[in-house]
Amino acid sequence: MIRIFPSLRFTSLLSAAKPLCSYSPAREPPASFTEAKSSPETNSLSITPKTPLFLRTPSHATSLSEVWKWHDWAKDLASSVEESSKNSEDVLDSVILLRELKWLIEDSIVDDPLVILHRSEISDNGEKNVKLRASLEELYDLWRQRIEKRRPFQYVVGCEHWRDLVLCVEEGVLIPRPETELIVDMVEELVTRDEWFKKGFWADLGTGSGAIAIGIAKVLGSRGRVIATDLSPVAITVAGHNVQRYGLEGMIEVREGSWFEPLKDLEGKLVGIVSNPPYIPSDDIPGLQAEVGKHEPKLALDGGIDGTDSLLHLCHGASRMLQRGGFFIFETNGEKQSKMIVDYMMSNDLKDCFSDLKIVSDFAGINRFVTGFRL
Ligand SMILES: C[S@@+](CC[C@H](N)C(=O)[O-])C[C@H]1O[C@@H](n2cnc3c(N)ncnc32)[C@H](O)[C@@H]1O
Repeated sequence: MIRIFPSLRFTSLLSAAKPLCSYSPAREPPASFTEAKSSPETNSLSITPKTPLFLRTPSHATSLSEVWKWHDWAKDLASSVEESSKNSEDVLDSVILLRELKWLIEDSIVDDPLVILHRSEISDNGEKNVKLRASLEELYDLWRQRIEKRRPFQYVVGCEHWRDLVLCVEEGVLIPRPETELIVDMVEELVTRDEWFKKGFWADLGTGSGAIAIGIAKVLGSRGRVIATDLSPVAITVAGHNVQRYGLEGMIEVREGSWFEPLKDLEGKLVGIVSNPPYIPSDDIPGLQAEVGKHEPKLALDGGIDGTDSLLHLCHGASRMLQRGGFFIFETNGEKQSKMIVDYMMSNDLKDCFSDLKIVSDFAGINRFVTGFRL
């Protein structure tokens, strides 16, 4: 099942930053994780990731008629909120809400969801007992949070369906977006064409839930190695948890720290760098859809005055960290921002660092990604 969440689409202006370019050694065989030293800095062991609703033990029970009552109430609330927000620019769509309600039922109720959704066609009597993964009281509360507080559905249920993965997410971690799936598709295409990329170290910078790192590790196969970094301790915890859930601890190492700082031991050794950094211009943050602006971490969204602070830093880092022939993909705010990043990489001290710079569009035809190779 694919659950679509509205994507972030904004345009921005580029600002100048001090360029820096250094040469990297020729292609080298990869080291193993034991040779690659982890950053000794702070770790996130004290944070416990939340269990998503669908993985909780069904330790609650109630009568079917009580669940029907809750379902009626939830549907009414969804319809009434669309009506009341009609004149607002940031309107809630009841069709989307009703789809989410169906998913909430699937994640929280053990019995066949059809007995709740199509009760008129079902002969079940209301006295039947239903097993739940959350108490009925919590279900009322969760739906109120979704509608009244505009809490994103993915935080309500604690997971997001992304590519072929179901990733745990919670407040403090960006909900991975559908367009970002294309990064993994592009890496898959590359490694299918050229086996060299399967054997070296990849870095996913600003890994969030670990979505891209996990997707890439799966396409690299057993010899692949990915280092996933993030500055946010919550992201590090959640990414580590997702890596563990997919049994990829031997292939993905999660390191806490700012961009390339936890990767000092891999300078000039990476075969690939991918990143979906914060790229929204600071002034656009207050105008974001409530679910995003009020609930998702600012650290994951705010790219500085014109949105390019992190992207420019990544351009310089890529020149230093990639092996010759190494590949990178950066997600951008789209359109102007992608073009500005390409122009930037072709100018100043970076002008002899990269080849085959390309702008790749997303599913919506927006020029979303910048890709290229280290010379
Ligand atoms: C747009 S989110 C992308 C998350 C994830 N890669 C995805 O695509 O769903 C940007 C991520 O960059 C992280 N981040 C922000 N500043 C950072 C920094 N200085 N160093 C490392 N990560 C950073 C944020 O915590 C966030 O997880």
